[in-house]
Amino acid sequence: MTDAKADIGVYGLGTMGSALALNLAEKGFTVAVTNRETEWIDDFVVEADTLAGALRPHHTLEAFVEALKPPRTILFMIPSGAPMDAMIETVLPLLDKGDTIIDGGNADFNATRRRFKRLKDTGAHFVGMGVSGGEKGARHGPSMMVGGTDHSWQQLKPMAEAIAAKFEGTPCVAHLGPDGAGHFVKTVHNGIEYADMQMIAEVYGILRDGAGWDAPRIGALLKTWQDGPLSSYLLEVSAAALQTTDPDTGRPMVDVIVDQAGQKGTGRWTVIEALKMGQSASAIEGAVGARGWSSERSVRQAAESVLGAGTLPAEVPAQDDLEKALVAGRILGHAQGFRVLHAASEAFDWSLDMAQISEIWRAGCIIRSALLDDFATAFRAELPHGHLILAPAMVAKLEDTIPALRRTVAAGVSLGVALPSLSGALAWYDSMRRARGSTNLVQAQRDFFGAHGFARLDREGKFNAVWPDLVSQTS
Ligand code: 6PG
Repeated sequence: MTDAKADIGVYGLGTMGSALALNLAEKGFTVAVTNRETEWIDDFVVEADTLAGALRPHHTLEAFVEALKPPRTILFMIPSGAPMDAMIETVLPLLDKGDTIIDGGNADFNATRRRFKRLKDTGAHFVGMGVSGGEKGARHGPSMMVGGTDHSWQQLKPMAEAIAAKFEGTPCVAHLGPDGAGHFVKTVHNGIEYADMQMIAEVYGILRDGAGWDAPRIGALLKTWQDGPLSSYLLEVSAAALQTTDPDTGRPMVDVIVDQAGQKGTGRWTVIEALKMGQSASAIEGAVGARGWSSERSVRQAAESVLGAGTLPAEVPAQDDLEKALVAGRILGHAQGFRVLHAASEAFDWSLDMAQISEIWRAGCIIRSALLDDFATAFRAELPHGHLILAPAMVAKLEDTIPALRRTVAAGVSLGVALPSLSGALAWYDSMRRARGSTNLVQAQRDFFGAHGFARLDREGKFNAVWPDLVSQTS
């Protein structure tokens, strides 16, 4: 160990913090490390083995901060929420002007904006950074979505680019905007992740409950789709999971897993923020809702005997239709996510670059897929109204796949197999492609009972109609 100061400090040696610290060490940076439970620190260094020489373990926050090169860069990999707020107050007195502290967790971007403001006048900088790719990604190449000031980005950039996943040599990390921009983009990434996972699960549901296929057979089919336009990490994971056997029972692993999906909040935040901005990311909402309904397991079990369980007699879609339905669903799920990002960019004045975001999602992150490169190309060209579904390349893909999505959703309805994300995506598509929708009647209803007013097609201004006096039959 030398006395030379470290390039970066990593506080928090849980799964993600350890992996990022080792990744940094492997790329030639010296890394000061510490942890709230100090007994973890020495074990971590021992386990780092050949990389231990690049690590500088410290057992107090003061020594850890003191060990860093100025201006300091400190990455906190600790639980978001109250622990992060407490940590900021503890570390702030130890910091100097120009130092940067980074929250690398899945934080609520509203909290990130608040923390950014809290540090603004202290001379120190706060960065919210989304890190995607799980433990393996963090260790060997994550995708990272960085917010905060340009000053912090200049400090962080060489290290972030060195440890990031590479897509054809380009690092999957970028400074996306100020304050909460990085965490917001990560939140929407996770929303898209929820939708993509759910849509794959919905196709699994059709094949299991509609066609009576066993898990390995469904897994084998999904695996063949990896060679086509659906090629992606989440499909690969799903195929492999379906083909995994439980060593205890010899049954497919998925058959012994309880059908209740957890969530830590990012998918839900995407939907909440979308709704706050007058958007509806229905494919993501379907996925969040499905996880919520799944948790009501005892109710579902009771309801099965009351409401009648099971699948109704109907045609199961062709395999090719299911594959294409997923392609359409993936395009629409992403298009909704990007629409939410666009709305946030306007609302918070972030100037988010959708092409850049697509590019840093092409490798390292959980939603990496072949389609992301196409999305990046579509965003690099002029996009009518900024909408992914209007890009000429996407129009062609949708023309090819929407009929299959339609048949799949119709089959789900006939079979009685719930497809909340796929059908939500289709409903959005059908709403967006219709120049004249049906909400003129909603406006009439609002004006009828509440004199809310409406706009007319043939005149400028706000109007009220003289509606008939109703002798209500439903009073
Ligand atoms: C990633 C993941 C990761 C995690 C999310 C979602 O990008 O590496 O998104 O951050 O999967 O926290 O987790 P939940 O499904 O538990 O909400």
